[in-house]
Amino acid sequence: MGSPVSSLRTNGSLLEVEDLRVAFAAGGREVRAVDGVSYKVDAGSTLAIIGESGSGKTVGCRAIMGLLPAGAAISGSARLRGTELIGLSDAALRKHRGSDMAMVFQDPARSLNPTMRVGAQITEAIRTHRKVSRSEAHVQAVELLRLVRIPAADRRFYEYPHQLSGGMRQRVVIAMALACRPKLLIADEATTALDVTTQAQIMELLLELQQELDMALIFISHDLGLAASYADEVIVMYAGKIVEQAPAKRLFGAGGTVKMRYTRALLDAIPHLERPAHTELPVVSGRPPDPTMLPPGCSFAPRCPSAADDCRTTAPGLIEHAQSHRWACWHPCENGGAA
Ligand SMILES: Nc1ncnc2c1ncn2[C@@H]1O[C@H](COP(=O)(O)OP(=O)(O)OP(=O)(O)O)[C@@H](O)[C@H]1O
Ligand SMILES: [Mg+2]
Repeated sequence: MGSPVSSLRTNGSLLEVEDLRVAFAAGGREVRAVDGVSYKVDAGSTLAIIGESGSGKTVGCRAIMGLLPAGAAISGSARLRGTELIGLSDAALRKHRGSDMAMVFQDPARSLNPTMRVGAQITEAIRTHRKVSRSEAHVQAVELLRLVRIPAADRRFYEYPHQLSGGMRQRVVIAMALACRPKLLIADEATTALDVTTQAQIMELLLELQQELDMALIFISHDLGLAASYADEVIVMYAGKIVEQAPAKRLFGAGGTVKMRYTRALLDAIPHLERPAHTELPVVSGRPPDPTMLPPGCSFAPRCPSAADDCRTTAPGLIEHAQSHRWACWHPCENGGAA
């Protein structure tokens, strides 16, 4: 089910990322964690960023949020409503975080303080960004708990994180992220730690909130199945680069046209109901490459069944070949790569 957002796409791009690069020094070698990534996110739309572990999904989004460690070398551009975020001071970025953009992470337990009641934590999040009295913040915090569909919000306000289920804790974390009604919410594997049913509930909640608050949503996942169900647009990442990008309908609709073998393999690995969501999946045969020793040519070539000599010598660029569909491959799949 894609979200009905086309009516909201009137404000143009909310976020414009251009040639974003992030490098780390690791044991004397350079890790290009994000290597020339460009994309746009329309106001009110849903973008899924998909890829195997280590492909640069988190680092790219943390760069936009200003949440990378000091040693990271960042270049390129990320404009939110026209404001350049790359290179902004910590203080300026802190202002944007929470008010214009917010991020929710995988593990709700680690995002919450176990020794503080959840209501107090939300109140604190509100008062960090807005000058409101304690009593007004309390009222707003209870409203936020209701917004994320926590039953008996008045009572839950006084509970500690350990008194809540994993799904309820993630709702609290989402409530904190929404404290200042951001226009962009990034959910980084926000449902991965949850069971399949709760995962679906949280995804539905995020989409409902997105429409209620006219918010754009970027969600990061290993699971192309989630992208198929919930995204408008899908970006597939490998070794720091976007290797395929298209509207979800084009990739997954009837007669879907996946072009990359890697995307195809991710699609074939979609978890099934009988397999718990957090089980490690045999996603793609072979291992993700060592980021400090990427092969020449296409980084995926050593694992790709279609790789030919040209793939091993020259890296294909990401090119828009058809109808908003970009891919980076010399020998793309015919017929969506279906077996
Ligand atoms: N602080 C750091 N210092 C050095 N390398 C880092 C640092 N943070 C991330 N990396 C490297 O950057 C690359 C991209 O990491 P990133 O966390 O973005 O991957 P990911 O796609 O989010 O993976 P996962 O699905 O496992 O969360 C990886 O090779 C990772 O080891
Ligand atoms: Mg990650």
